[in-house]
Amino acid sequence: MQERHGFKSTFGFLMAAVGSAVGLGNIWGFPHKMGSNGGFAFLLVYVILAALCGFVVMVSELSLGRRTGKGAIETYQILSRKFKWLGWLATLSPFLILSFYCALGGYCLKYMVLNFGNLINAGFGTNGLSGDAVFKTFMLNQTEGVVFGLIFVLLTALIVMGGIRGGIEKFCSVGMPALFIMLVIIIIRSCTLPGAVEGLKFMFVPNLQPLKENFLSVLATAGGQMFFSLSLGMGVMITYGSYLDKKKNIHKNAMIILVCDTIVALMAGLAVLPAAFALDPEGKTSGPSLLFVTLQNVFDNMGTVGAVFGIVFYLLVILAAITSSISLLEVIVTHFCDKAAAKGKGDKRKVYSIIAAAAVSVLCILVCLDGMGYSGYWVPGRVLVDGVWQYTATYNDCWLDFFDMLSEGIMMPLGALLMCIMIGYELGPDVIRDEIESHEGHKMHSYGFYKLCVRFITPLLMLLVLGGQIRDFFI
Ligand code: PFF
Repeated sequence: MQERHGFKSTFGFLMAAVGSAVGLGNIWGFPHKMGSNGGFAFLLVYVILAALCGFVVMVSELSLGRRTGKGAIETYQILSRKFKWLGWLATLSPFLILSFYCALGGYCLKYMVLNFGNLINAGFGTNGLSGDAVFKTFMLNQTEGVVFGLIFVLLTALIVMGGIRGGIEKFCSVGMPALFIMLVIIIIRSCTLPGAVEGLKFMFVPNLQPLKENFLSVLATAGGQMFFSLSLGMGVMITYGSYLDKKKNIHKNAMIILVCDTIVALMAGLAVLPAAFALDPEGKTSGPSLLFVTLQNVFDNMGTVGAVFGIVFYLLVILAAITSSISLLEVIVTHFCDKAAAKGKGDKRKVYSIIAAAAVSVLCILVCLDGMGYSGYWVPGRVLVDGVWQYTATYNDCWLDFFDMLSEGIMMPLGALLMCIMIGYELGPDVIRDEIESHEGHKMHSYGFYKLCVRFITPLLMLLVLGGQIRDFFI
């Protein structure tokens, strides 16, 4: 049978896992969700959820994957009698996420090119147009949207084709430290701009009023964001765990991933919000406009040096997004590679990477054609006014949001909830402790806490998150 090459070093694994966690969710989602959900109050709920749910689910997924040494679908088939089908849910979510993730990744590519155009005064720059006008024009240019989205899918597929060691580990081991350095540069620039302090206040001044007013909404948004940001509830950590050897300490590594992801989310807030407040006080601090309109205005206001910062910033976002999208594609590819290897068909990674990427491209094209609702492929957003189709669709009703709600809002918390029930009541929490302690010297010190969480606290919180997400989307 074909040998299954896993991660070579702990550093490589950590960079890949942190790379999966750190992405658009941190750089774009976290700052604007924090901004529109009470700032400090959101941060507090997020940290509590990360400790009570995120850590528990992360440790569980990595352990289940390493125990079977297989992808998500087979892991559930091998371990459970009642939840055999759960792996399929965990593999369907990456398809949905990749559809909009690659579209957004493509938009970042386009914005990097735009800033390059500004730097060399070329016609493909912003040409003096406002951030809003540039964004709208781009959204309505369906061909361009699709081309950039597909380039991003292609880049993702090329890295996954290289395998865990040769592709993913190598890319993340260089990409993640580079991303960190670029983020620090942008933070220094952002926080030293006159007026930046307003952005800092917006983020950190304690105010618990939003919790009193709308506790369930804040909880649901923070919960969805937490699952999305930590890449949980959908097979990624099971898959990466399956490539881990017994010497690696799952407990410790899960903690590191969680802390790094939260720190980067806060750093991204520091990179984005103070600059947005300083240079574009009227600019919106939420939705896609934050990343593509407000920030582009910020770069445009800075003159030539702004173009350089623009290039660095969008490159940073592209790096973060790619280290996440490869983990998503890997969930799908691992399953088919394992199956082929079991049947003695040899290494089919390249073929499966191409097939999976082609399937993802179909959904990605739909999201790109829709152009975040501007081009109106979301039918309910289209109205006929005086015989002409008008598109009333906005950020809140487009394919991107719909796929996001399905995956982040429903499938991820549901997948994690059912996994906790499986561990807590069918397999027993010992299964996780045994896996973590399977290497001499590794102790699961938090076992008492883990057991309590996996059986009672985590499922209860996830039910609340799920209820809140569904309520907020439909009402
Ligand atoms: N965690 C990534 C982010 O914050 O952008 C997105 C993501 C990657 C979600 C992998 C889910 C996943 F399985």
